Amino acid sequence: MYIWALMGRYYLRRLQPADFAAVYELNKHCFVEGEAYTESYFAYLYADNDYHYIVLDENNNVAGYLVTVYSDDDECSDEFNAGHDIGCDPNCEKTNHKRVLAVASIGVNTKDRNRGLARTLLETLISDVNNTSEMITYLVLQVRVSNATAIRLYEKVGFVKSIGKLVGYYSHPTEDGYLMYYSTENQN
Ligand SMILES: CC(C)(COP(=O)(O)OP(=O)(O)OC[C@H]1O[C@@H](n2cnc3c(N)ncnc32)[C@H](O)[C@@H]1OP(=O)(O)O)[C@@H](O)C(=O)NCCC(=O)NCCS
Repeated sequence: MYIWALMGRYYLRRLQPADFAAVYELNKHCFVEGEAYTESYFAYLYADNDYHYIVLDENNNVAGYLVTVYSDDDECSDEFNAGHDIGCDPNCEKTNHKRVLAVASIGVNTKDRNRGLARTLLETLISDVNNTSEMITYLVLQVRVSNATAIRLYEKVGFVKSIGKLVGYYSHPTEDGYLMYYSTENQN
């Protein structure tokens, strides 16, 4: 098992299928009902690409996770391009298309928060994406406008808010969101 980083009593590694159930439980803990993913959606995300990570504590419990999904197809839709000038190909051509990888979900167990685990998960993703031969030009994510902790964290690791808000993007309760993005260009 390849371990990327040691953080005191925590360690970080890639997500594996055997982790789906634990990640599903932590996801339910972190998000309100209706916003949490199903186990089968985690399986779908796992099959989509390699950029998924978990943090384990010293007892092998999942303390945090980050999962991603390629979003070229749907995020290059009118919704994504309207008012969100991140340089995505407006014609959505499939050839020479710049790939966009979305942070589909990130969560840390309440008792393990404020120790830099989410920051480490995001920095590991950014490092991997900056070092891959794949043409991933942007990392994107959506966040509730009220989620100040997450927004501050994303800004600290280099994400910026896109223009405007995603009006009524969230339910449970209904709320606007920000689209935030990280450009891998000019990083090397
Ligand atoms: C958002 C979330 C993932 C952050 O996880 P986390 O592991 O607590 O995040 P970090 O510890 O990396 O950073 C959070 C804060 O801890 C601080 N921190 C980091 N390392 C620290 C340390 N060693 N000691 C004390 N504080 C520390 C950070 O500076 C940051 O503080 P700030 O908000 O005042 O800037 C977590 O709160 C969560 O799971 N929330 C519910 C799900 C959610 O909202 N996900 C995001 C949806 S878009």
